Amino acid sequence: MDSMDVKKANLVFHDETSREYDKKWAIRFDEDMARFVLDKFELGLRGPFPRVERILEIGCGTGYAMLNLGIAGVLEECWGCDISQGMLDVCKENAEKLGIKVHLQQADVEDLPYEDSYFDMVIGHAILHHLPDLDASFREIHRVLKPGGKCVVAGEPTVNGHRFARVAKSLAQWGIRTYARLGGRLGKRPVRLREYRAEDEGSHELQELEHVVDIHTFDPAELCRRARRAGFRVARYESEELLSSFVGWMIRTVETSVEEDNITDRWRWGAYNTYKRCRALDRYLYRVLPHSWFYNMILYLEK
Ligand SMILES: C[S@@+](CC[C@H](N)C(=O)[O-])C[C@H]1O[C@@H](n2cnc3c(N)ncnc32)[C@H](O)[C@@H]1O
Repeated sequence: MDSMDVKKANLVFHDETSREYDKKWAIRFDEDMARFVLDKFELGLRGPFPRVERILEIGCGTGYAMLNLGIAGVLEECWGCDISQGMLDVCKENAEKLGIKVHLQQADVEDLPYEDSYFDMVIGHAILHHLPDLDASFREIHRVLKPGGKCVVAGEPTVNGHRFARVAKSLAQWGIRTYARLGGRLGKRPVRLREYRAEDEGSHELQELEHVVDIHTFDPAELCRRARRAGFRVARYESEELLSSFVGWMIRTVETSVEEDNITDRWRWGAYNTYKRCRALDRYLYRVLPHSWFYNMILYLEK
């Protein structure tokens, strides 16, 4: 598949899924999530989030990163772009509900519609792994940044993290099917595996597209080398989520494998707390294990 097809697939997939996106990824805009998002960026920055005048988020989607950073009170003038107008429409509604002012524009990261040296900082979350031409994207980010400007992109899957996630998904699938066969219960009801229905045809096509749009997993050191080749003076990374990613993918796999009435609020609450406890444990593991094993990479660049 060539680069144009990947972009078209990204546009169609994200337009089609934009209304369900926040629910699917349990995205909230509140103090708790704002702290969570700020922590990610400060891990990448290795320090407090700087007070700068103008920030751009590339691939802002429904606003998960920038609106939560807005709630955390670290943004002044905020700009967001995305290839999908559907995602931008939801982002606009989210921003209006929160009373946060953002400048949104439909744009491709590989060809940004902004002047040279316009932004003090560029941020992103879960975007690089969708971009067919990473070198062109890095060059564009570099171009729109002021000299000395910083770029932090969080939530990018590593090669090793992705392998662990696949194991987690297979284990969870096998586990929930076996549990259902044995007559197990979830949410005070017998487990009912989600069945294929004719009306799901559209969602199957979307699942296929999801495989098309996720085009990269990253070797963090190699990605830093690429960013340096595009002109960045500094390129380094941190990472997060090992156990929490494994458990998180198992939870998501169970949730998407069973009927909705098996998933109660109690389950969601328990799942979220388990994930948070695993994250706390991950912080200790991060001190002793190779950072490239962790699922989410946070890239830090400086012009
Ligand atoms: C996984 S979503 C992440 C959205 C948001 N940053 C978040 O973390 O929730 C990836 C986003 O990147 C956008 N995207 C994909 N390819 C793009 C491109 N070439 N230029 C700009 N945005 C793109 C998609 O439309 C989608 O909104």
